[in-house]
Amino acid sequence: MMEDLVPLSDTEFNILTRMLFDRFGIHLGDQKRVLLSGRLSKRVRETGCGNFSEYIDYLRTDPSGREQTELINRITTNHSFFFREGEHFAYLKDNVFSRIEEAVSKRSPPAVRIWSAGCATGEEVYTIAMLMRSHFGNRIDGLDIGLLATDISVAALSQANEGIYQESKLKELPGEWKRQWFTKAGPDQFRISDEIRGMVLFKKLNLMETPYPMKGSFDVIFCRNVMIYFNAQSREHVVNAMHKCLKPGGVFFVGHSESLNRETCPFEYVKPAIYKKGEGDRGIKP
Ligand SMILES: C[S@@+](CC[C@H](N)C(=O)[O-])C[C@H]1O[C@@H](n2cnc3c(N)ncnc32)[C@H](O)[C@@H]1O
Repeated sequence: MMEDLVPLSDTEFNILTRMLFDRFGIHLGDQKRVLLSGRLSKRVRETGCGNFSEYIDYLRTDPSGREQTELINRITTNHSFFFREGEHFAYLKDNVFSRIEEAVSKRSPPAVRIWSAGCATGEEVYTIAMLMRSHFGNRIDGLDIGLLATDISVAALSQANEGIYQESKLKELPGEWKRQWFTKAGPDQFRISDEIRGMVLFKKLNLMETPYPMKGSFDVIFCRNVMIYFNAQSREHVVNAMHKCLKPGGVFFVGHSESLNRETCPFEYVKPAIYKKGEGDRGIKP
């Protein structure tokens, strides 16, 4: 409620937005003032601070860094759902899985590495896992698959690991998948199966902190509806860092409401929200 908001002065707003930008790349313009005080007022009180200036001091002097984690948990929007932007999964099946099929038929199955960056509560990466299981069936056991999912929000990651979802998040899923890989966990809640959950490794990662600590490179990176928070400079920073993590020929997905700057983008454009690293491309463009 508006009357519960702790007053936020211009200086306090500027300090907090600077902090969010410098540490996480998150850009909140002036129009986000109400959003910021709305999301943080309760936290200011929970920490026993009397106003935002005290809270800022608390944030700055907390040696554990835990309050920073709390801050980011409150600010980020972790909205996601299963099978979101379905065309991406169709592209994955038709273009990436088909290449794996070919290699399998030649008895040289490759290692497949897929990264869901900004995975929120896990719906995106679990959709990929189900798609792989449904496409490859029992042959999946003969494949070396690595699914990595990362996010800055520990709260979102913990929900992802738990794997329990409101029924509304499953609306786009094929009924058969729902029957096969979910069990009822409450009045309108569903739990994802261990078979799917066990395919994914969840890790905390701030996308602004580059280079990324990855062993080896990826065939596919999903970074959808994450860079909406970033300004052009942070977006470019993250896109270049991800380009370095992809194998030549690798595919890069962004959200449909996002687009990359064609002038500075190191990727080849495939179609809306789908990009590719050139087959012979081993580094970023000068
Ligand atoms: C709207 S969700 C997108 C979830 C999923 N990719 C999808 O499209 O459904 C955006 C996620 O990006 C994460 N995020 C924002 N800034 C980040 C950063 N600097 N590093 C890592 N994750 C970040 C947020 O915590 C949030 O969970």
